[in-house]
Amino acid sequence: MKRMAKLKVRYVCQQCGFTSPKWLGRCPDCSQWNSFIEEIEEDLSPHIQNISAANSPQLLHKIEIGSEERLSTGLKEFDLVLGGGIIPGSLILIGGEPGIGKSTLILQTADNLAKKYGKILYVSGEESLKQIKHRAERLSINSESIYLLSENILEVILDQIQKTKPKLVIIDSIQSIYKNSIPSSPGTITQIRECANHLMTLAKNESIATIIIGHVTKDGALAGPKTLEHLVDTVLYFEGDLHHNYRILRTIKNRFGKTSEVAIFNMESKGLTEVLNPSSVFITERPKKTPGSVITVMMEGTRPILVEIQALVSSSSFNIPQRKSTGIDYSRLILIVAVLEKRLGLSLASQDIFVNVTGGLDVSEPSADLGIAMAIYSSFRNIPLNEKMVVMGEVGLGGEVRSINYIEKRINESEKLGFEKIVLPKYNLKNINKIPNITFKGISSVEEATDFE
Ligand code: TYD
Ligand code: MG
Repeated sequence: MKRMAKLKVRYVCQQCGFTSPKWLGRCPDCSQWNSFIEEIEEDLSPHIQNISAANSPQLLHKIEIGSEERLSTGLKEFDLVLGGGIIPGSLILIGGEPGIGKSTLILQTADNLAKKYGKILYVSGEESLKQIKHRAERLSINSESIYLLSENILEVILDQIQKTKPKLVIIDSIQSIYKNSIPSSPGTITQIRECANHLMTLAKNESIATIIIGHVTKDGALAGPKTLEHLVDTVLYFEGDLHHNYRILRTIKNRFGKTSEVAIFNMESKGLTEVLNPSSVFITERPKKTPGSVITVMMEGTRPILVEIQALVSSSSFNIPQRKSTGIDYSRLILIVAVLEKRLGLSLASQDIFVNVTGGLDVSEPSADLGIAMAIYSSFRNIPLNEKMVVMGEVGLGGEVRSINYIEKRINESEKLGFEKIVLPKYNLKNINKIPNITFKGISSVEEATDFE
């Protein structure tokens, strides 16, 4: 007699996936308040009867791995982020905020892949076939082997994957599909996990590469895809500022390649184009001879990128002066202002201070500290900096300038873009090869940095 599945109620934290038999106001694991949602789970015990007897341990030295053929996405930068292309049978999660361009990126990639390798199955649980066709027309997609399926039910999707036998399956998005036999609604942790598990089993058994798209909100509040990170082989995040055109695709995890790789794209009216010279694009609109503008080099993964930091210091008309930062951490700004006041004796208490990183980039590295300090100093004193100068270094609470990593890469990139003077931590100066066309100024305190020609 077939056993009836028993239904059990449990409470699952929508932030981290922690489960509890009773409702809790605050998650003991991730400390989030009000994150528990009631979910009904199937009694999983009947599945245990299906354990395959065929699987047994193998001797490690006898296992052979032929050279893995990787599918090239047709986008050089995307391939780089993936570690050289897509491995058949692998599961890739692409997370990002709604509207950032995930569907666009994937449809463009599907076009390239379909032309080279054959059948691609694009499953959308969010858009109708006509909507996808509209996007495809906008992107001038003309491949003849992309199959579209507008469907939400996992069982139907799995069945269609088996029938179509594509090289690659795209699930857009994991939040929009659900397993019919589970009573929880789509987008809940239980559904997301269960659907991903089934897709993974199919991907591995049939050797079909699978790309799963997942929405992540800015504050990570309903971070369903986070719980999938341990399950999939590769996790990529597609980020950017919705008010700017630049998008960054970043590797968070990769079982088949390096992490910390990034690819930069530009969102245009006809889709995404790769930015092959990211270093120069963020500084092209730099104003000439303007106080408060400083160039520094940040690292995006292992790639150096030159960015412009701008500061505007002006006397405040309020009792409490304003401090605002875009692209850098606010507390970092406050700290640097305090260092400038204390160590350099600048009287900034009556000044409004605005600091901005151009191009919508986020600079969270400490190596930008010195750039921020010099931008504020330059604006406050109303002295423009040398246009051909790059500044980098971490600033400590004592006003000391501390060494930074990847110094050679940062220097080489500055030279490539025609900069002639580099202000850097004195400690770093010891370990670099001198370059003839560049003057190096090694400094050990913020005060020394302000002595510029
Ligand atoms: P979309 O790929 O739908 O985002 P996601 O799947 O991450 O939710 O793209 C969202 C935005 O991109 C949308 O606001 C319109 C813009 N866009 C362009 O600027 N150019 C284009 O060619 C396309 C297709 C979209
Ligand atoms: Mg989309």
